Amino acid sequence: MPVLITGVAGFIGFHVARRLCEAGTEVLGIDNLNGYYSVELKRARLQQLSGFANFRFQPLDIANSVDLQQLFTGQAFSEVIHLAAQAGVRYSLDNPGAYGQANLVGFLNLLEACRQQPPRHLIYASSSSVYGANAKLPFSVDDPVEQPVSLYAASKRANELMAYSYAHLYRLPTTGLRFFTVYGPWGRPDMALFKFTRAMLEGRPIEIYNNGLMGRDFTYIDDIVESILRLRLKPPSLPTGNRPASCSTSAAASRCGCCISSSAWRTPWASRPSATTCHCKRETCWRPGPMWARWRAGSTSPRTHRWNTALTLSLAGTGIFTGFEPRTHNRPQVAS
Ligand SMILES: NC(=O)c1ccc[n+]([C@@H]2O[C@H](COP(=O)([O-])OP(=O)(O)OC[C@H]3O[C@@H](n4cnc5c(N)ncnc54)[C@H](O)[C@@H]3O)[C@@H](O)[C@H]2O)c1
Repeated sequence: MPVLITGVAGFIGFHVARRLCEAGTEVLGIDNLNGYYSVELKRARLQQLSGFANFRFQPLDIANSVDLQQLFTGQAFSEVIHLAAQAGVRYSLDNPGAYGQANLVGFLNLLEACRQQPPRHLIYASSSSVYGANAKLPFSVDDPVEQPVSLYAASKRANELMAYSYAHLYRLPTTGLRFFTVYGPWGRPDMALFKFTRAMLEGRPIEIYNNGLMGRDFTYIDDIVESILRLRLKPPSLPTGNRPASCSTSAAASRCGCCISSSAWRTPWASRPSATTCHCKRETCWRPGPMWARWRAGSTSPRTHRWNTALTLSLAGTGIFTGFEPRTHNRPQVAS
């Protein structure tokens, strides 16, 4: 049975698909290739994946329930890794409807499809933005998250609650992941590192929000992928025995908000980490290491340096986002 990845032409979906394909896993990817950012970049990612015999792509909008149901009627999926969404916090101020469609309607459609044809595990992307106005640091998945300060955050929190109810009602094993700003090759051009670089290359001032009084955790894409792949084969355990489907113990089937990312790259001005990685460690026996530790160990530095250089060259050269790393299906070699 193939693994279904939604949002496969996106930054994280592309990397997850590539790792799975390299491991010989059959992958079906769907994406509506929307124009939130360069469609050329999304197509370039798909182009990379098209070299794998075990990869298939189908253009599909998850907000279209008929198309999604049809997809699930035709075949079963071993796991569903749901990464399609309208991302971005600021964009939600001007385009709230996009979040309603992709993140709420789309997610409901996906849950319904999974209810009809249950995968062994539904992993979906939530976001660190659900911590919203929380003041307690470091953030923890055990904290209440009731103050989303953007529609994007509210839509992600809604996803967690929706997933919880489907786990409870239909014993659908779900895991939600609160990603903290992800960076790396083939990344999203709407995010800070790309915007900073582009501004530098074009000789424009770098736009810094909140007078520069900002600190946040970043997570390197390989750490995100590693966490997803480790979790993929570890669905939350369902209660056994002859229980009614709505029995409250089946709530244990939902592991909403498993926090997999933090402190991979601490910005120099951030005096505190933004999240604990305890859950990640507990669930996967592994956690993303802090940048400084890996720097000392000599493993992250060359990779990050090469990425930065490639990013700069790419932006300076073609303006097309295909030159970030060698065009090969092998994973980038990392000195260790
Ligand atoms: N990148 C980060 O730093 C970050 C942080 C927190 C959470 N997330 C979440 O992780 C997931 C992946 O993020 P990303 O950075 O890869 O974003 P991305 O925008 O690069 O990828 C999302 C993909 O989903 C597709 N998509 C959007 N609406 C769709 C729809 N209705 N039907 C089908 N496809 C649709 C887009 O075309 C895009 O290719 C998203 O859910 C995002 O909210 C990302």
